[in-house]
Amino acid sequence: MRVLGIETTCDETAVAVVSDRLGGDGGEILSNEVLSQIAQHAAYGGVVPEIAARAHIDVLERLIVRALAKAKIELADVDAIAAAAGPGLIGGVLVGLTAAKALALASGKPFIAVNHLEAHALTARLTDHLEFPFLALLVSGGHTQLVAVKGVGEYRRLGSTVDDAAGEAFDKVAKMLGLPYPGGPQIEKLALEGDPHRFDLPRPMLGRGGADFSLSGLKTAVRHEILKIGSPSETDVKDLAASFQAAIVDVIVDRVRAGIRLFTESEGRPHGLVIGGGVAANGAIRRALTRLCAESGVRFVSPPANLCSDNGAIIAWAGLERFKRGFTDDLAFAPRPRWPLDAAASEAHHGKA
Ligand code: KG4
Ligand code: ZN
Repeated sequence: MRVLGIETTCDETAVAVVSDRLGGDGGEILSNEVLSQIAQHAAYGGVVPEIAARAHIDVLERLIVRALAKAKIELADVDAIAAAAGPGLIGGVLVGLTAAKALALASGKPFIAVNHLEAHALTARLTDHLEFPFLALLVSGGHTQLVAVKGVGEYRRLGSTVDDAAGEAFDKVAKMLGLPYPGGPQIEKLALEGDPHRFDLPRPMLGRGGADFSLSGLKTAVRHEILKIGSPSETDVKDLAASFQAAIVDVIVDRVRAGIRLFTESEGRPHGLVIGGGVAANGAIRRALTRLCAESGVRFVSPPANLCSDNGAIIAWAGLERFKRGFTDDLAFAPRPRWPLDAAASEAHHGKA
């Protein structure tokens, strides 16, 4: 079975073809074309929705042609067409969703609307055949949440951020330090040369009940340190980057530990912890979670960085998982700028969206 997937919810235009493996679990990526728009947004210090939508229109058709060519198939050879229908920037979502519907209509193939967060959560089944149920940590520029993944369409949010998303915190702190967008990779690089103990930054929510995150206090504390210094030297910037990263790592580890506990209480031991979202590329976070999982006896599944950040293969894979279970969607399916994973769950229980 082969599924074409389209991703346009944020600032990556992406198209991929994924197939399942005969007689086995997991999938095979036949092509995975990603065009990042970062250069077009960098001057503005963040993603500009109008620029994103227009840029998706400019390149999507070419990417679809290229993804099919690299997979060495034609549209007639795919079994279904999937697109991320949200959550995300509505202008961009509309572009990918409309393209997928048009392809489905023209080819007579089924159409599948995929929740972008669901796609991140199911990636570990594409790469590592991870069995349900498992715990997913989704950390990107727009999302930070812990989700119990019990089956396709069966999700329960165990915790989420009450203020900033993790990537947003990295980006805002980077901006304060005069670093270019996106800030996460910049901070990670500078942190390698900085002293993580120089600044005593808060670890919000540490030890708190539940598994929610709070990150804006940490960002504000960094701002105060910068104001105290006046104009930070290169060393100050490196030490601030290292201290900030150490603090956010501590917060994430503590919240994931709480998530594992909550999960175990209600579902039994998770078969694994999977990470997804752009922030999952961070080496310090990966190392800390590797340690936590080893201590907790939970398998840690960290898909390669290119499958953690936004791409079409994870959309195609989620589409394939849904299609196999009989979920397809109407061509009238409307884009969903907001689309909590728990809502996807209740729809799945009631038949389909
Ligand atoms: O998932 P993604 O590509 O786009 C969405 O936000 O949906 O994530 C982008 C975010 C940005 O905030 C970026 O700064 C962050 O992921 N990021 C990182 C790293 N690489 C990307 N944050 C920390 N460390 C990194 N190495
Ligand atoms: Zn994403």
